[in-house]
Amino acid sequence: MSLFKAEHSLLEAASLFADELMRLGIDNDEARAEARLALSTLMSISYGALPLKQELVLGDKAVDLDRVLKDRRNRRPIQYALGQADFMAQTFWVGEGVLIPRPETELLVDFVSRRLRQLEEDLGISHENVLLVEVGSGSGCISISLLLQFPGLRALVFECSPQAARFSQVNAERHGVADRMELVLADFFQPEPIDLLAKRLFESGCHCFMVSNPPYIDAAEMEELQPEVKHEPELALRGLDADGMGFYRGFAAVLLGVAGKRTDIGSFSEAVAEKKSTDIGSFSEAVAEKKSTDIGLFSEAVAEKKSTDIGSFSEAVAKKKSTDIGRFIAEGKLVEFAFEVGHKQSVPVAEIFAGAGFQHVEVRQDLAGIGRIVAGRLIK
Ligand SMILES: C[S@@+](CC[C@H](N)C(=O)[O-])C[C@H]1O[C@@H](n2cnc3c(N)ncnc32)[C@H](O)[C@@H]1O
Repeated sequence: MSLFKAEHSLLEAASLFADELMRLGIDNDEARAEARLALSTLMSISYGALPLKQELVLGDKAVDLDRVLKDRRNRRPIQYALGQADFMAQTFWVGEGVLIPRPETELLVDFVSRRLRQLEEDLGISHENVLLVEVGSGSGCISISLLLQFPGLRALVFECSPQAARFSQVNAERHGVADRMELVLADFFQPEPIDLLAKRLFESGCHCFMVSNPPYIDAAEMEELQPEVKHEPELALRGLDADGMGFYRGFAAVLLGVAGKRTDIGSFSEAVAEKKSTDIGSFSEAVAEKKSTDIGLFSEAVAEKKSTDIGSFSEAVAKKKSTDIGRFIAEGKLVEFAFEVGHKQSVPVAEIFAGAGFQHVEVRQDLAGIGRIVAGRLIK
């Protein structure tokens, strides 16, 4: 049965919508914010201007508002119901199969943006000489926001989910940055993507700035997700390894490999190059057996692991001789990184990178004092 009528004013509709959400157990503030978001989106009125237009009537949007409410009764997230989400004051197209951009991820964009400006001021490195590398682009919100802020910046973006990659591509086109964003549909922890990363870095002569908001929720917390979050893809949420931090271990290994910073990367690569399967879960398990502060033993961890499912993750790295890839750092190139982390992960993730020899490793907190970003660099 439809609740909303064409003659309902926006004020009446907002109140009815919020009351229905509160009946579902959604708290007052959230329910009112959602009502306002739904109405401003459907009526094409800016969120801020809605209170000035509250005497307008719903008209034929009453049907759409009923459909959105029906979705919300099924706990489908409001952003999926509306087909869009706000991020960094921009609109991103979203739907099933892609993570809804989160406000905390805006902190990461803001951090990277400041860091890019600092590189220019402190080291004279222009953003035009930086290749932004993102793993797990989802809607594309991180890279696209940065490309919009830095007109000379280029991005190499990896996403393993075809649905999510499609959202990245469409959003990049809608925001007019698709020509500066190379999107690769691939599991990052495979030989080809890493080979491509090394190739792009060398051929462009750019410095490397890797960003990611990887899946990081651990197994215990996956059981406690809110009903709305369960509509989002598990691939975007569930971290690797029991503690959810497998992606960071993988990133540390890849960055060390690309930079050629460690001399044992060659033997690590040989150890895994023989393996044929593509199961990256086991790759992380192999690394996780080693303490997070000791990623230097990464290669041994993989070498010891006798299973056949490590994957040929590092064939690409293996093909490069360590003396060859070591050029990157030796030639004065910078490897910079900034990753979003889960609410309990900032210290152990910082330890992974500091223990692996990265410099300037730091944790950035949000306003509530929760460590949200771990950043650092590799430099000669
Ligand atoms: C937490 S979401 C982040 C999405 C987006 N960057 C954001 O911040 O809203 C993580 C993304 O990583 C992708 N992903 C997971 N494993 C991956 C892998 N091995 N290689 C590439 N992408 C991966 C997921 O499909 C998902 O889109």
